[in-house]
Amino acid sequence: MVNTNPLLVALGSSVIHAATTKLRGNSGIQWGKCDIETQGLPVECARLPVPLDYSNGSSAETLDLALIRYPAQNGPSQGTILLNFGGPGQDGLNNMISYAPIQGPWDPRGTGQTLRFACFEPEAAGLVLANELPDESPEVRQRVWDQAGYIAGNCTERLGETGDLVGMAFTARDMFRIVDALGEDGKLRYWGISGGTTLGATAAALFPDRIDKVILDGVMNSHQYYHSIGETEALISSDDTLVGFIRACFDNPKKCPLTAVANSSDDALKAIVGAFEELKTEPLLIPAENADPVPITYSIANSLTLSTLYRPNSYQFLASILTAVIQKDTDALVAAFSGLGSPSAIPQQAQAIMGIRCGDKIPREDKLSDIEVVEQQFHETSKYFPGFGAGYYLYACAQWSFKAKERYEGDFRVKTSSPLLFIGNTYDPITPLASARNMSAGFEGSVVLHHDGFGHTSIAQRSNCTNEAIAKYFADGTLPKKGTVCAPNQPLFANDEEIVATK
Ligand SMILES: *[C@@H]1O[C@H](CO)[C@@H](O)[C@H](O)[C@H]1NC(C)=O
Ligand SMILES: *[C@@H]1O[C@H](CO)[C@@H](O)[C@H](O)[C@H]1NC(C)=O
Ligand SMILES: *[C@@H]1O[C@H](CO)[C@@H](O)[C@H](O)[C@H]1NC(C)=O
Ligand SMILES: *[C@@H]1O[C@H](CO)[C@@H](O)[C@H](O)[C@H]1NC(C)=O
Repeated sequence: MVNTNPLLVALGSSVIHAATTKLRGNSGIQWGKCDIETQGLPVECARLPVPLDYSNGSSAETLDLALIRYPAQNGPSQGTILLNFGGPGQDGLNNMISYAPIQGPWDPRGTGQTLRFACFEPEAAGLVLANELPDESPEVRQRVWDQAGYIAGNCTERLGETGDLVGMAFTARDMFRIVDALGEDGKLRYWGISGGTTLGATAAALFPDRIDKVILDGVMNSHQYYHSIGETEALISSDDTLVGFIRACFDNPKKCPLTAVANSSDDALKAIVGAFEELKTEPLLIPAENADPVPITYSIANSLTLSTLYRPNSYQFLASILTAVIQKDTDALVAAFSGLGSPSAIPQQAQAIMGIRCGDKIPREDKLSDIEVVEQQFHETSKYFPGFGAGYYLYACAQWSFKAKERYEGDFRVKTSSPLLFIGNTYDPITPLASARNMSAGFEGSVVLHHDGFGHTSIAQRSNCTNEAIAKYFADGTLPKKGTVCAPNQPLFANDEEIVATK
C-alpha cells in the first residue's frame, strides 16, 4: 500500500464524437458517477474531449477519453497521479477497479471504451494465433504466419479510417490534455507498469519540461519497441526466472510438488524441458465431459508456464501443473485446465496490443524467410521460451500495413525537468532488470531501484522497502540511492500450503 495520499486518475476512452464537437480546452473536468461496475470503491468518472488527430491541426474532431479517479484516502490530495496498466492495450477503467486500492489506472486509445481496436470477431473460427507458438513445428510456424497475415489484412480493411490514430505518441499527448484539464501545476505525475513504461518514456521524451514525478515499473526496452521487429530483450531473464522458480521450490521441499518427479532442481528442469519436447509431437489429451478430449500441446504448456511466471502467487499451482505434465497425469490436469476452455479466439485485449504496438513499430518484413534472423535471435536469447510472443507480435507486426500517424523516433536521451524512477525485478520473465537499466541510461539523473523479487513488475511480489521508496518519491521527489536493492517481504512458497499427499 502506498501512503502518499495521491489522487489517482485512470483513463478510459470511448466513442468518437461527431465532427461538430468543439474542443472546450481547459474547461476543467466534471466528475460524476461511473457507468461500470465499481465494486463499492469510492471512484468517480468523467469524460474529457481531446483532439482525435493531433497531426491535423485544422480538424475539430474529438475523441472522448473516459477517465476514472480514485480520490486520496489518507488526507488531502498532493496532486493527481496518472496510471497506465500496460500491454500496451490493457483496458484502463476495469483494471482501475481491480488495482485501485494499490494503484489506479485508465483506458488509453485503442482499448476499453476508447477507440476500441477490434478488427475481427473474438469468436472468429479457427484463429489460433494467440495459442500457437511457431517453435512447436514448421507447420505451426507457417500457420501462425498466415493467420497473422490475415489479421493484419482484416485490421486494415476494418480500421482503415481510425487505425492510425492509435499509438503511444498520441496517447502521450492525451495524457497532457488530462494534465491541463486537471488545472494543477501543468506537470505530469505518472506511474506506468509494463507497456505503460513505454508510454511514460515516450511522454517524458516528447515533453521533458513537463515532468514532475514519473515511475516506470516493469520496464520495456522502448528502443526495441519502436525500432526492432522482434523485442528480444524482453526474454533476456525468462530462462533465469524459470530456473529461479524451480530452485525456490526445492528450497521449500515440503511445499514443492516437483519433488515427486525429481531429486534436485537441476533434474526438475531437465524433466520439464524433456516433457515440453515430447509435447511437440505427442500432446496430452485431457478428457472432457460430452466433448472431444482437449489437447495440451507444447504451445499451451510453454506459454502457460511463462505467463504464470508473471505471478508468484500462482507458483505453487504452476509447480503442480508441471508435475502433472511430467507424470502425464491427465486427471490432475483436468481441474487445472477446465477453466481454460477450448482455445480458438484472440482476446480483444490482444487485438489492442497488436494495433498499438504494430502501428508504432518502424520496420516491416513481408516474407516469412525474412524474419529467420530475428527468430534466431529469440532462440539465442531464451532456450526455453523462444517462441513466446512471436505469434501475434512478431509475425503480425512484420506484416502490418498501417503506421501510427505520429511515432516517437528519437533516441530517448533526455533531460527531464525532474528525474525519473525506474524499477526492475531480478526475475521478471518479460520486462527484465536489464531493460530498466537500458532505459535509465538515457534519462539524465534517473535511478534504477532493483527489486530483488520474482514476477512481472514490483507489484507481483510485495516489498515494504520498494513500496516505501515509491511513496517517498511521490511524496517529495526523493529518489532512492543509486544501487538500492529491495528484498521482498517474504520468500517464494513461504505462505503456500504444504503438500499433503503426492502420487
Ligand atoms: C480476413 O480474414 C479471413 C479469415 O478469417 C480471410 O479469409 C480474409 O481473406 C481476410 N481479409 C483480408 C483482407 O485479409
Ligand atoms: C531420487 O533418488 C533416489 C535414490 O537415488 C532414486 O531411487 C529415485 O528414483 C530418484 N527419483 C527421481 C524422481 O529421480
Ligand atoms: C539500449 O537498447 C538498445 C536496443 O537494444 C541498444 O541499441 C542500446 O545500445 C542500449 N543502450 C544502453 C545504454 O545499453
Ligand atoms: C510490511 O509492512 C506491514 C504493514 O506496515 C507490516 O505489517 C509488515 O510486518 C511489514 N513486513 C516486513 C517484512 O517488514
